[in-house]
Amino acid sequence: MPIDAPRDGQDLVVVANRLPVDVTLDEAGEPSWTRSPGGLVTALAPVMSRTKGAWVGWGGSPGLELEPFDVDGTELVPVMLTDTDVERYYEGFSNDTLWPLYHDVIAPPQFHRQWWDAYQRVNERFAQAAAANAAHGATVWVHDYQLQLVPAFLRALRPDLRIGYFHHIPFPPLEIFAQLPWRKQVVEGLLGADLIGFQRGGDAANFVRIVRRLTDLTTRGQMITVDEGTPSQRHVRAQAFPISIDSHAFDQLARTQAVQERALEIRRELGDPEYLLLGVDRLDYTKGIRHRIKAYGELLEDGRLSATQTTLVQVASPSRENVGAYQQLRDDVELLVGRINGDHGQVGHAPVQYLHQSFPMEEMAALYLAADVMLVTALRDGMNLVAKEYVAARSDERGCLVLSEFTGAADELVGSVLVNPHDISGMKDAITYAVHLDPREARKRMRRLRRRVLTHDVAAWSGQFLSALTAVPVRDGHA
Ligand code: F6P
Repeated sequence: MPIDAPRDGQDLVVVANRLPVDVTLDEAGEPSWTRSPGGLVTALAPVMSRTKGAWVGWGGSPGLELEPFDVDGTELVPVMLTDTDVERYYEGFSNDTLWPLYHDVIAPPQFHRQWWDAYQRVNERFAQAAAANAAHGATVWVHDYQLQLVPAFLRALRPDLRIGYFHHIPFPPLEIFAQLPWRKQVVEGLLGADLIGFQRGGDAANFVRIVRRLTDLTTRGQMITVDEGTPSQRHVRAQAFPISIDSHAFDQLARTQAVQERALEIRRELGDPEYLLLGVDRLDYTKGIRHRIKAYGELLEDGRLSATQTTLVQVASPSRENVGAYQQLRDDVELLVGRINGDHGQVGHAPVQYLHQSFPMEEMAALYLAADVMLVTALRDGMNLVAKEYVAARSDERGCLVLSEFTGAADELVGSVLVNPHDISGMKDAITYAVHLDPREARKRMRRLRRRVLTHDVAAWSGQFLSALTAVPVRDGHA
């Protein structure tokens, strides 16, 4: 049932699983907030500061009920998730059903009807919060796989809105998507949007093909016609908008004296290895961390890399620790690291420096600057912003990026050394090539990479998405 627009609603409403702030509770249970450093926050901060905006999202703590509050002129609207919602909607359906399904079923997706019920219930809650905060004719931008039903729920409540949705992770081919028992409902949920953005052209094409096979809607190129021949007929556009980072800010950060000095210090602390290799990931089974460490271990074993002259720093930030597949992965990675260090380490030198921690941006920039070779070997990744951060940090035009062809970034980052992470022998050759790369060739590659990353930054990404959304003709009289 449609509801009326609120009198003091916002012109732009972002809807994402998480709010752009991290909540911490003190001993008395009182919340305080700090800005979270995520890419989406950076991307949207300038747009939000120009517009009367609201951000609807979860505060990150189960059971936390809070009134909306203002941060730098943006109204933050917390959505409450109970313990059961977190377990079934977030850890369950989002991260143990959709996440593995949409990442090539690298881990087996779990299908549970109770999880699906929770996903629907929570999506409806997010839609209601957005509907209650959007001005008449406002633009609402919904983000990611946790909230695929929000566009249709929201359209039913507020047909006057212009609704955009951006999918940050891969969208799978029909043959995989079709496993989902609720596949049709998910497609219908997404089709509530006017514009559906994907990371790659291939993701958008997968979606349109799925629409053709699972519905009887008419499609023409990227356009899908909904409610054809009725007064509510409209067109939905499915298009690629590859996301990026705040490349200039990152470039500037990496040029600061503090970061430059820290980079040198990191190398010294590691015993001045001849070659420093780096991996930076959330500890997630999609990231190919095991494949990478296995290839590295074999290179040491074969004597193609010297265990005393080489160090691999692997930052693996803790993630989704209540989900079984993530717990298993942690055990597997730590076993492998222990074996390699046990076999090839010496007193005072471990060939793998494994850090199960998160670090501030300054430390990450210093690590990128210190590394001779950056290893991004994801088995499947929507984009991979670490690859772009490495490039943005390298104003010295040195270093080499080894990049999995199964990342969205591989479509853009010409100049990287592409690998198939399933091919361990091929990956060993690529790592060897990168380690011994001629400095002139490395510079040529890095220049090309930097041109792309610095021209296509996150402001360009959000600008392009929002202009395309604004260009969509919307019913109900607003231009
Ligand atoms: O890449 C998808 C994504 O959901 C991001 O939006 C998010 O920053 C990251 O994964 C971590 O996910 P979570 O919010 O589950 O910790």
